[in-house]
Amino acid sequence: MRWLARGEATIPAGTDWLDDVERRRAAGMRYTKRRTEYLLRRYAGKSAVAAAVGLPDDPAALGRIAVLNAPTGAPYVQVDGRRLAMDVSLTDRAGWAVCLVGTDLGAVGCDLEIVEPRSPGFVTDFLTGDEQALVAAAGALGGQARDAAANLVWSAKESALKVLRTGLRADTRTVEVALPEVAPLARAAAGWNPLTVATVLGVLPGWWRRDGVFLLTVVAGSADALGEPPAALPGGADLAAAEPVHSWLARPLAD
Ligand SMILES: CC(C)(COP(=O)(O)OP(=O)(O)OC[C@H]1O[C@@H](n2cnc3c(N)ncnc32)[C@H](O)[C@@H]1OP(=O)(O)O)[C@@H](O)C(=O)NCCC(=O)NCCS
Repeated sequence: MRWLARGEATIPAGTDWLDDVERRRAAGMRYTKRRTEYLLRRYAGKSAVAAAVGLPDDPAALGRIAVLNAPTGAPYVQVDGRRLAMDVSLTDRAGWAVCLVGTDLGAVGCDLEIVEPRSPGFVTDFLTGDEQALVAAAGALGGQARDAAANLVWSAKESALKVLRTGLRADTRTVEVALPEVAPLARAAAGWNPLTVATVLGVLPGWWRRDGVFLLTVVAGSADALGEPPAALPGGADLAAAEPVHSWLARPLAD
């Protein structure tokens, strides 16, 4: 399992790097936020696939790769119009996107969040009792650990709901996140740490990491599929140095 991050400032100009389906989908998106996020996830996805299969990262090569969606919304990859035997998951937050790639992963999910304030109402409405206790335990560490915990739990739920293919159609309390220890939540650069998510499919294993203000979670369907902590693909952005951006606010409607 490997991963790569991209920032929206480096999205290629023009549309040569998109395939026809992607180009039409992007053109149909009127809101800048939706379109930019879609393109950013495509750029991260294509770059990750290119790095993983040994294609160059230029517009012509990226245009041969299509990151398409099954009816559930889950992503899959084609190269030159043929399905690639590679599993992917895509996520973006605040101007940055991550793609996770691997073979024989089966359904896999990743989700990127930022450490931001979460209200007591968010915690009681969307988190289970045990998750609320986890957030409270992290809160006792002081600093940003409470908010890191609330956002991490949210992120791991989204990753697990991507594995289940339901996304946020499901009640977020139907999956429950647990960590073996909360202490790493107090650190701004903690490397990969284990997590688990209890679901209708059983307890799914995962990893989480914090890079500056960004939190990334990964969840897989089994310990075999999850394997070792994901390795960074060459050429990706460094999230530890990344600033969240909200460029769409200046121009809500796309051209
Ligand atoms: C999965 C979901 C929770 C992610 O939302 P989010 O956290 O705001 O967004 P992220 O950036 O983290 O993830 C978006 C990516 O999740 C993936 N995704 C979407 N639905 C998915 C699903 N059911 N299963 C697995 N992955 C899914 C897609 O790759 C998507 O990016 P893309 O559309 O550019 O390919 C949300 O998209 C969802 O609830 N989807 C299911 C319901 C739905 O409306 N489906 C639309 C069918 S087309």
